[in-house]
Amino acid sequence: MKSLSLFALGLFTLGAHAASAVDSEQLRSEAASLIPPFQQQLLGTMKQAMSDGGPAQAVEACQALAPSIAEQHSQAPWKVGRTALKLRNPDNAPDAWERSVLEQFAQRAAAGEPIQEISHAEVVDGQYRYMQAIGTAEACLGCHGEKIKPELLSLLDQRYPQDQARGFREGDLRGAFTLSRPLAP
Ligand code: HEC
Repeated sequence: MKSLSLFALGLFTLGAHAASAVDSEQLRSEAASLIPPFQQQLLGTMKQAMSDGGPAQAVEACQALAPSIAEQHSQAPWKVGRTALKLRNPDNAPDAWERSVLEQFAQRAAAGEPIQEISHAEVVDGQYRYMQAIGTAEACLGCHGEKIKPELLSLLDQRYPQDQARGFREGDLRGAFTLSRPLAP
């Protein structure tokens, strides 16, 4: 009798694990699939402004449009955004959970894990939360690198008086995409 109930318990536990694994796998791939179109629109907007009017216009386009692009890609129930430890726009500041994940990402990157493979998912206070690391590409250096042109620097100083998002090198961890949605009841 005793062994039978343990057997039943074992089966139940196995079943519950399998079910939650399927759900979180689905949420994770849903979250991951929202990132490429968001990223492409940010890059496309930036490149267009760059070719229309150079880097100063591109900074203005980022400032004016990045928040609404994030909103546009936040399709209910998902909320989509970007965050970082070294920030340009203070509105992108991480909350406590995001900060600790960004710190983990920095350690994982320092330990040699490829940035494009770094992500983390967790259920926090009834929300499914997902973060995916963003690396620094060559195309980012003009505005986030070590040698930003003086005229661009003064524009950045003016628009973002607390800017810390500079001094990056190609391949550095720049920040992360951050997504969340309430779990279904
Ligand atoms: C033309 C200048 C410019 C270029 C090039 C650029 N950025 Fe930015 N970046 C900005 C500005 C301006 C902001 C602030 C936008 C906002 O208000 O959300 C920003 C914000 C960010 C943020 C949000 C976190 C924060 O610090 O506010 C991330 C992440 C980011 N950039 C990553 C990148 C990456 C990765 C690249 C290269 C693929 C890149 N940027 C290229 C100007 C630029």
